[in-house]
Amino acid sequence: MKRTALIGHLTPAHAGQTVTLQGWVNRRRDLGGLIFLELRDRSGVVQVQVEPDSAAFAEADRLRAEYVAEIEGVYQQRPESQRKGGAADFEVIAVRVKVLNTAKTPPFELEKGGDVAEDIRLKYRYLDLRRADMQRNLFLRSKAVTAVTEFLDAEGFIQVETPMLTKSTPEGARDFLVPSRLNPGEFYALPQSPQLFKQLLMIAGFDRYYQLARCFRDEDLRADRQPDFTQLDMELSFVEQDDVLELQERLMAHVFRRALGVELTLPFPRLSYQEAMDRYGSDKPDLRFGSAFEDVTDLFQGGDFKAFADAQTVKVIAAPELTRKQIDELERVAKQNGARGLAWLKRDGDAFTGGISKFVTAQTAELLARTGVPEGGTLLFAAGEWKKAVSALGAVRLALRDLFDLAAGGPQFHVSWVVDFPQLEFDEDSQTWTYMHHPFTAPHPDDLKLFGTPQQGEIRAQAYDLVLNGFEVGGGSIRIHDPEVQTQMFAAIGFTEEQAREKFGFFMDALAHGTPPHGGIAWGFDRLIMVMSGAQSIREVIAFPKNNRGADLMALAPSPVDTAQLGDLGLKLDDAAPEA
Ligand code: AMO
Repeated sequence: MKRTALIGHLTPAHAGQTVTLQGWVNRRRDLGGLIFLELRDRSGVVQVQVEPDSAAFAEADRLRAEYVAEIEGVYQQRPESQRKGGAADFEVIAVRVKVLNTAKTPPFELEKGGDVAEDIRLKYRYLDLRRADMQRNLFLRSKAVTAVTEFLDAEGFIQVETPMLTKSTPEGARDFLVPSRLNPGEFYALPQSPQLFKQLLMIAGFDRYYQLARCFRDEDLRADRQPDFTQLDMELSFVEQDDVLELQERLMAHVFRRALGVELTLPFPRLSYQEAMDRYGSDKPDLRFGSAFEDVTDLFQGGDFKAFADAQTVKVIAAPELTRKQIDELERVAKQNGARGLAWLKRDGDAFTGGISKFVTAQTAELLARTGVPEGGTLLFAAGEWKKAVSALGAVRLALRDLFDLAAGGPQFHVSWVVDFPQLEFDEDSQTWTYMHHPFTAPHPDDLKLFGTPQQGEIRAQAYDLVLNGFEVGGGSIRIHDPEVQTQMFAAIGFTEEQAREKFGFFMDALAHGTPPHGGIAWGFDRLIMVMSGAQSIREVIAFPKNNRGADLMALAPSPVDTAQLGDLGLKLDDAAPEA
């Protein structure tokens, strides 16, 4: 017998009709001689009633949770006393039941899925994926893919697949390596992104490219990172930064509209990196709420309060009334993020009490005016080297958000751009300059003259990040298309000609063969869907993710391999490594 409808597609218009449904037994209850079943398919759940004298009863009695069943019955409205409103007002009175397959007792109750240890959910992912939350997330993801394809195809983009077995790409994480059997002792790298290939496609004249590209990065894992993740990767020729941003805004609006029915406000606000760090202590500020910092360095410079007098930067954030315990906790957050401490004051009328109040009498009026802290509220200060001070206070700002649910008052989704990143960053550990985005990012043309000078840290990159609710959901740049500038860039980060050639020789050759001006961006697609779905972890929007130790608990990967297989690859483990 064929199924006549998906459960979620049944409407009041089906009332009185005989329907055939197929799915899983969500739940079974026996009551007063009747069997009540909940039958579930990918579209919904419906209650099925099996009466004791019905021909369906004996077969229905075999059903247990997660059995696969076919049920034929009459779809009808429940008695008035049992109606709850909506689809639950209807049920199926079974006339025929067929067990299509049995199932072992599930290792966890699917309905409690969200509360079950994640390791168990990941081990039995195929069961976890039956849960409504996971089905919703993956359908949302699929809808977003459709929206992207629809939009970019109409805008003249071509989809091209780039290799998985390739050479190291310049994103700055560790590579996953794959040994080559045919070339013993040599390795492929899995791509950290399709960066060089998409630039080569521009050189090849494709003009507009996109790909939902798998990327691989061997880095420490967090709730918003996977070793194996998906980018929506794009590149465009003959464009400037504004062209890229404008198209991205329309694409993002289209995706939110089609996948969620949410209208975003365009254009997205743009903050410079400097501004984002100065005001929010983050290059991916959560702008669903305010709580920007005020700069009060000038109020303390050269003054009596030694802790602030010599500091490069003194920043303050106004918080609601805080207990001592909360202040201690926030100080711990500040210290974990590089601050020496977290100074505080409590407003009491036109004065401050507690914390450092005896050192700020001269600054009181100005502090009240600049921060507008309300009666009883707390001021929290971070002082020191600029980046350390703002980053620490940025972490405190997010802790305040979580403590007081500050984001709840704002829009559900806030998208913004962070632009004008520094081209170069000084790495204190190695005492060398390094690129902030990647070495093919174009510097701002006005700043080119700073290459090789002590001010090269001030060179602005034509790079931009897309920020959603405090997550970096995309990053890109206008690229260097002039081999001369590329050489300057390599020199600035201390790459010799030979080093550059060894790593990216093929690419440098290509650049010299007629490269159009071009630029692009990649969205962290999993991360975007995580925020859109309201999930707390990227693992909730990936069908088969790794846990935070990089393991696939279902397939049991990674796993040891036997010596013969290693031998084929010309590899031998050292004594410290476990063998299969
Ligand atoms: P970037 O390294 O910024 O840029 O990556 C782009 C976006 O990918 C997401 N992302 C990740 N998502 C999940 N797990 C990870 N481990 C992970 N790493 C990054 C982030 C990030 O914003 N080739 C450039 C793009 C370009 O310049 O066009 C690139 O890869 O959301």
